[in-house]
Amino acid sequence: MKSALSAIALVTMVAGAPSVFAQSAADADKFVADAEAEQREFSVPKAQVDWINETYITDDTNGIAALFATRESEMRVRQAKDAARFDKVPGLSFDTRRKIDVLRGGITLPAPTTPGSAAELAKVGTGIKGLYGAGRGTLDGKPISGSDIEAAMGEVRDPAKLKEMWVSWHDNVGAPMRGDYARMTEIANAGARELGFSDVGAMWRSQYDMPADEFAKLTDTLWQEVKPLYDDLHCYTRGKLNEKYGDAVQPKSGPIRADLLGNMWAQEWGNIYDVVAPQGAGDIGYDVGELLKARGDDPLKMVKIGEGFYSSLGFAPLPASFWNRSQFLKPADREVVCHASAWDVDNKDDLRIKMCIKVNSDDFVTIHHELGHNYYQRAYNKQPYLYLNGANDGFHEAIGDFVALSITPDYLVSIGLLDKAKVPTADKDLGLLLRQAMDKIAFLPFGLLVDKWRWGVFNGQIPATGYEKGWNDLRLRYQGIVPPVPRDETRFDPGAKFHVPAAVPYTRYFLARILQFQFYQAACKQAGWTGPLHRCSFYGDKAVGAKLNAMLEMGASKPWPDALQAFTGSREISGKAMLAYFAPLRTWLKAQNKGKQCGW
Ligand code: ASP
Ligand code: SER
Ligand code: ZN
Repeated sequence: MKSALSAIALVTMVAGAPSVFAQSAADADKFVADAEAEQREFSVPKAQVDWINETYITDDTNGIAALFATRESEMRVRQAKDAARFDKVPGLSFDTRRKIDVLRGGITLPAPTTPGSAAELAKVGTGIKGLYGAGRGTLDGKPISGSDIEAAMGEVRDPAKLKEMWVSWHDNVGAPMRGDYARMTEIANAGARELGFSDVGAMWRSQYDMPADEFAKLTDTLWQEVKPLYDDLHCYTRGKLNEKYGDAVQPKSGPIRADLLGNMWAQEWGNIYDVVAPQGAGDIGYDVGELLKARGDDPLKMVKIGEGFYSSLGFAPLPASFWNRSQFLKPADREVVCHASAWDVDNKDDLRIKMCIKVNSDDFVTIHHELGHNYYQRAYNKQPYLYLNGANDGFHEAIGDFVALSITPDYLVSIGLLDKAKVPTADKDLGLLLRQAMDKIAFLPFGLLVDKWRWGVFNGQIPATGYEKGWNDLRLRYQGIVPPVPRDETRFDPGAKFHVPAAVPYTRYFLARILQFQFYQAACKQAGWTGPLHRCSFYGDKAVGAKLNAMLEMGASKPWPDALQAFTGSREISGKAMLAYFAPLRTWLKAQNKGKQCGW
């Protein structure tokens, strides 16, 4: 509490400070050092306040979180404007140039300097994030929380109940925040323009070591590379859903009904693997969630297993504070933000995860995902403050997922979860690949479209009067899915996805899906693996761990192609590794789809 108050005083005190001198490279060095120190000092109490707010949502904690967000916004916008004044100063060092670009473009939602704007933006932003956290849908007419409804969407197979959950969640959580979202967009766009960007989306795209337009093109190129695989999976899955539910629920042609895919947002489909599993011979015969349940593993044990993987690569164990301060379970007596996240509260070793863990396979993978963030944070903690970040945000999202690709049947045997006799034989490879594809391939168009929607909202191509249509058009075009009931502009379905109210850019997850296979292919090569790629586990391989650490400890200090090269030898992000991993499945899907009219 003491440090929190002193930080408020600090920021208030310097808010009206005189403009910086912007004449020489030495002035720039000093400006950057001061900005960095100011951010570092503020970041700790800010994280503490956010932690308390997200693990105990009340009007009071919303108020304090909004106050801190206001102060942070004022500080960072002031720094961004000052940074712009150094843009043309000759002779800047590599690091000062790089940090000035971060200071200028690295604010997710910038407020304009108009008095009151930062406070309004912070209040609206904190409010809708809290609304999401406290959101409820219904099942059988009874209220059901966000984390429960997510799990139920994976388990329930009755189309009427699925529809009830889908509609209630989207209506209750999304629609009420529509007006606030429009206001948030308006304020942040004005802020971006003040900083010299055309809109917030252009600012987001400016953080990838290349011109913003080129980055947008790169994402489209990557999508074209992997899209054929998605089209095959869509076609096959639609056929299986039609067999299960019949023409009235899921027709043989056209888009797929969004609530039938085992996930509230139809973003990952692995939960309906049982519906699409190859008949008899190809089936894998186990589900990780069931194995954990059968052994009686609880959420804490699941986190210990995750830590064990990283330890096997040579990473030091998590600190005692991680175990004392993390939120693993949904508290019974208060509202929290259940959506999984990883935290580094003191920029050193106060690492935590915040989840509402359920014993199922989704959360087992998510634990590895979140821990990937924590080990990345720890690996780069010796870097200067403005480099305490991933090589780009896609790298940060990819590390834990890449590790989780090593959860193979043989790995499960080595940690005593699967009987050696139950390891699927080589003839079950297609089942294993299909199970992964349902999560990894299915996600790609969703990973792309969330920000296609936001980029469109920010640049005005999707007007506030057409939010819902813009969203559903993209869902149809990229994912080939439709909502179970007609939607109109009284709704706001994008608001029913965490990252929209929480203002977390989403292209990072699209990049991460691609990158994680590049990392995995490289690690398996380093490990000397010669079998089918998807059977490779680098569990216990300290040489892979050391090489991984070399990339992680770079943080954001170098352009991302340097980091990619450090671990994989390549400077290009590419879908080739992902295509190589799934190549046998592709051939098989083509055979299954033979004679069918694919597409929508
Ligand atoms: N932070 C993760 C995601 O949003 C959590 C999850 O997978 O649910 O990427
Ligand atoms: N964690 C991200 C999400 O939940 C991507 O999987 O949307
Ligand atoms: Zn993440």
